[in-house]
Amino acid sequence: MIAFTTPYLWYSSRATGIVSLVLLTVMIVLGALVSTRVGGRAVGRFEINEIHRSISMITMLFVVVHVGTTVVDSYVPIGFFSALVPFTSGYRRIPVAIGTIAIDLMLTVWVSSLVKDRIRNVTWRYLHWLSWGCFAAAALHGFLVGSDSHRPWMIILQAVCVAAVIMAAIWRITQRPTRAAGRTAHSPLAGSGQVATKKTSPTSGPRPLAKTGGRAIPPSAPLAKGPRR
Ligand code: HEM
Repeated sequence: MIAFTTPYLWYSSRATGIVSLVLLTVMIVLGALVSTRVGGRAVGRFEINEIHRSISMITMLFVVVHVGTTVVDSYVPIGFFSALVPFTSGYRRIPVAIGTIAIDLMLTVWVSSLVKDRIRNVTWRYLHWLSWGCFAAAALHGFLVGSDSHRPWMIILQAVCVAAVIMAAIWRITQRPTRAAGRTAHSPLAGSGQVATKKTSPTSGPRPLAKTGGRAIPPSAPLAKGPRR
C-alpha cells in the first residue's frame, strides 16, 4: 500500500466533519418543518421541502469528502472498509465506529429517499426516522474523536447543533401536521409524503393516516381546492 499523508488532508477532514455536522443539523431542523408542514406565503412548504432536499445532498457530499480524506490520509489507519463497517477500524475503534454507524444510517435514509416511489410510503417514513439516530451518532462521534471538539468555539457549535435538534424533536412531537397557507408543489400533499392533519372529517378534510395506510392521497383528492399562490 502506498503511504500518503499531508496536513492538508487532516485539515480537510476536520473542516468537512464540522461542516457536515452543521449541515446535518440544518437538514434535521428543516425535515421537522417539512413533516409538520410549516410554510407561509413568503416561504412556502414546497420551498422548505426543496431546501431540505438540496441540503441533504450537500451534506452527503461533505460527508463523502470527510470520510474520503480520512481514508486517503495514511497517517490514520482507517481503510475504506472500516469507514462503512462499524468496529473494524484500528484507529480509535469506538468513536470511529460511531461515525460509521452515522454514515450507514445516513446512506439508508438517502437510498430510501431515492427509491421512494418504489417503496411503501409508511416504510419510507419509518426509515426516515433513522435521521435522528444519524445526528445523535454523528454528534457523539465528532465530540469523541475530533481534534477540535474540546476547543471553546467547537463546544459552543456542538451545543448549538444539539440544542437545535432537540428543539426540532420537541417541535416534531408536539406539533401535529396542519395545513398551512402558502405555495405547494402540486397539491398540499405532494412531495412531502405527509397525510395526517388535525381535521379528520371523512368527507371534507384530509384523511387520517390509519385510513390511507400511510400512503399519500393523490392530487385528485378534494384537498387542493381554491386558487394556489
Ligand atoms: C455522518 C457522518 C459523519 C459526520 C457528520 C462526522 C462528523 C465529524 C466531526 C464533526 C468531527 C470533528 C472534527 C473536529 O473536531 O475537528 C469528526 C472527526 C473525525 N471523523 Fe467524522 N463524521 C462522520 C463520519 C465519519 C466516518 C464514517 C469516519 C471514518 C472514516 C470518520 C472519521 C473521523 C475522524 C478520523 C475524525 C478525527 C479528525 C481529527 O483528527 O480531528 N467520520 N467527524
